[in-house]
Amino acid sequence: MPSLSDLPRSILVVGSGGREHTLVRSLLASPATPRVFCAPGNAGIAEDVPCFPIAADDIPGLVALVQRENIAFVVVGPEVPLSLGLADRLRALGIPVYGPGADGARLEASKIFTKEILLKHRIPTAPAAFFNAIEPALVYLKTRSIPIVVKADGLAAGKGVVVAQSLNEAEAAVREMLAGNKFGAAGRQLLIEDCLFGEETSILVVVSGRDYIILPTSQDHKRIGDGDTGPNTGGMGTYSPAEVVTPALLARIEAEIVRPSVNAIAAEGIAFCGTLFIGIMLTPTGPSVIEYNTRFGDPETQVVLPRLTTDLLQLLWAAATDRLPAVGPLLVKPDYAVCVVIAASGYPDAYPKGDVITLPAPTSLPPATTIYHAGTARNTAGQLVTHGGRVLGVTAQGPSLRDAADRAYAACNQVKCSSKYFRRDIGARQFNRL
Ligand code: AMP
Ligand code: GLY
Repeated sequence: MPSLSDLPRSILVVGSGGREHTLVRSLLASPATPRVFCAPGNAGIAEDVPCFPIAADDIPGLVALVQRENIAFVVVGPEVPLSLGLADRLRALGIPVYGPGADGARLEASKIFTKEILLKHRIPTAPAAFFNAIEPALVYLKTRSIPIVVKADGLAAGKGVVVAQSLNEAEAAVREMLAGNKFGAAGRQLLIEDCLFGEETSILVVVSGRDYIILPTSQDHKRIGDGDTGPNTGGMGTYSPAEVVTPALLARIEAEIVRPSVNAIAAEGIAFCGTLFIGIMLTPTGPSVIEYNTRFGDPETQVVLPRLTTDLLQLLWAAATDRLPAVGPLLVKPDYAVCVVIAASGYPDAYPKGDVITLPAPTSLPPATTIYHAGTARNTAGQLVTHGGRVLGVTAQGPSLRDAADRAYAACNQVKCSSKYFRRDIGARQFNRL
């Protein structure tokens, strides 16, 4: 474990969502008491640390900021700056970064690239075929069974996947992605992949070359509506731990998926340092990889990081400086955590911006409850207002999942905002199992 005196004194977190607010809070809690900065941040992050108005995709701007402010360590939240090579640029200047280079980020930015690696290294995943022309894709569709999954190859902010319930729907998705312009460059190639059935879970792994540490399990709720209905979103709520992943199942996931994935990525010549987020379907025949992301999940981070007793700064710094084995076994609180995302009504389609938000005073919140900011800003009058689709992530911990959920929901009801929307059933799968 890097000793406290060894840790960086100034850290920049890149991004502006609930994930980044959680990263900022967890880094501030380090016994090393570092100075933490954020770019661009949001209204809540700006209450905690200095923020710089530089967009997460402004690579030259971020590099200049790091040099000007003498930042010693950079933690990158979102995928876009990673795929644009921010980590490569900083490492070339000798600045340690938590987050992969553009080669590693391709594991998220290209679903075809990832599927090829999964198939080549025999890591469990759904069979798939790749197309850049409509006719052969339509012919292939007729040879598969329904439901069937059509995926745009590139980054599409979680919207490039259609789980088609009929041949018509699948054909329409193929035409729309390859002929239409809805997905731009991301849709110029697509995958058609067999549908997997089961429960999903998110496995977040801190990776440094061939070394890794698996973070606590969690489960996201991707659909907008209660009962997993309506369109996909970036994620409407999470809980941790996901007890569907029993210790025996986690051991199997590690042996069949995590270890082989880390080894495959290294064998492909990618020096990966950052979070490998593995989306897994727990099928009746075993765990199967749905996707890799190459960053922390949002809102998985909001329930995973608060449960860590291990110092996040020491963990991420050890990964970035090639000393991960020195961290030893992760220390995790036994408490449960639930995050309920408050969105602007209308999300994931068009939604209003600028609605005034009134938050409860921290002292009137339920115990062990934190409101992480995502899409928030200040208007010219200085009021807190909505500024994005996902506005807040209300996270609570408790001795049981029920306690944690009750606390999170009590806090959600204290938030005042005219366009407030949230799911009422975060944790339902786990409650139903009990
Ligand atoms: P992705 O962007 O690859 O995470 O896909 C978004 C969502 O689509 C996943 O979280 C799953 O719910 C669903 N999905 C993706 N691939 C499959 C598959 N092969 N079978 C069933 N559902 C899938
Ligand atoms: N919550 C899913 C993601 O971060 O991609």
